[in-house]
Amino acid sequence: MTTPPHAQEELDLIAQTVDRVSTADAAVLAELRTEVLGRKAGKLTLILRSLGSLPPEQRRLLGARANQIKQALETAIAERERVLQDDTRRTVDVDGTMPARHAWRGARHPVLAVVDEICEIFKELGFTRVSGPEAETEDYNFTKLNMPLDHPAADEHDTFYLGPGALLRTHTSPVQARVMEQYQPPIRIVVPGRVYRRDAFDPSHSPVFEQIEGLAVDEGISFVDFKAGIDYFVKRFFSPDTVVRFRPSFFPFTEPSAEVDVQCQMCKGSGCATCKQTGYLEIMGAGMVHPAVFENCGIDPERYTGYAFGMGPDRITMLRHGIPDIRLLFENDMRFLSQFVS
Ligand code: PHE
Repeated sequence: MTTPPHAQEELDLIAQTVDRVSTADAAVLAELRTEVLGRKAGKLTLILRSLGSLPPEQRRLLGARANQIKQALETAIAERERVLQDDTRRTVDVDGTMPARHAWRGARHPVLAVVDEICEIFKELGFTRVSGPEAETEDYNFTKLNMPLDHPAADEHDTFYLGPGALLRTHTSPVQARVMEQYQPPIRIVVPGRVYRRDAFDPSHSPVFEQIEGLAVDEGISFVDFKAGIDYFVKRFFSPDTVVRFRPSFFPFTEPSAEVDVQCQMCKGSGCATCKQTGYLEIMGAGMVHPAVFENCGIDPERYTGYAFGMGPDRITMLRHGIPDIRLLFENDMRFLSQFVS
């Protein structure tokens, strides 16, 4: 059985045009359509028209192939037309006058920026930055720090308990004990981290907040070194003319203990709402490490002395930027945070 060779070849060529359809633009598509399917002179039309003059067997084979190609081509053209039309519609939808979408830029949270800055200042004094666990034991959070569990100071901490003997640390001081157990002096560390207390949210309280613990232990460290270290920090962080005040206080793990105030940055000491008319703002609790703490942690209190402090970077951040409510630091409201993108 033979078919006219030219008709066979012609059909093979036409079959290939189906592949070209999927990438054709509107003009090429129209061309293809006329060239192949045109009613008068389309290549496929002509072949179909000539079928009548062929012997029945050839007509059947060739006709089937030709019709198959015709259908494939028509489907492909219709599909391509749909895609091209969609594309056109999409182009038309673009509104060139629409303002561009805001490109968000990230930044460090203001409190973490302050934490980094404080740690860098203490680095100048030889302090290493370390961290400790937020889930602690009663032993580290209280007992080793000379704070028996029935001591009122332990009560005041309003602890979140995780289970018997396990809690969320109420301060960063337990890291003092962890470090002293592991290393012999000289020790100089700063420990930033989160602490937890069962306080309700209000403008100056949050159940989770940031602390930075400091600890310096060596032979011959005196109260003068303590005051000088704190004074250096305050003047570096705030300004060289900032007035610092040490007030006697009590912590079970330091003796003597002090609270450190800086002159109010808002009113420069004349009294305002921020400092509640006192002219000063408390920035940390501190003191000379209690000998009992040294003993609990395996450090010889006869040989070594040291000082420790715990400050609140949230408060300090609020002071620096004039932020009136601590809750702003936790809400992650972009209108607030975006003010700290530099
Ligand atoms: N841990 C104390 C607190 O959270 C602060 C402090 C630290 C006081 C170190 C003295 C020495 O209140």
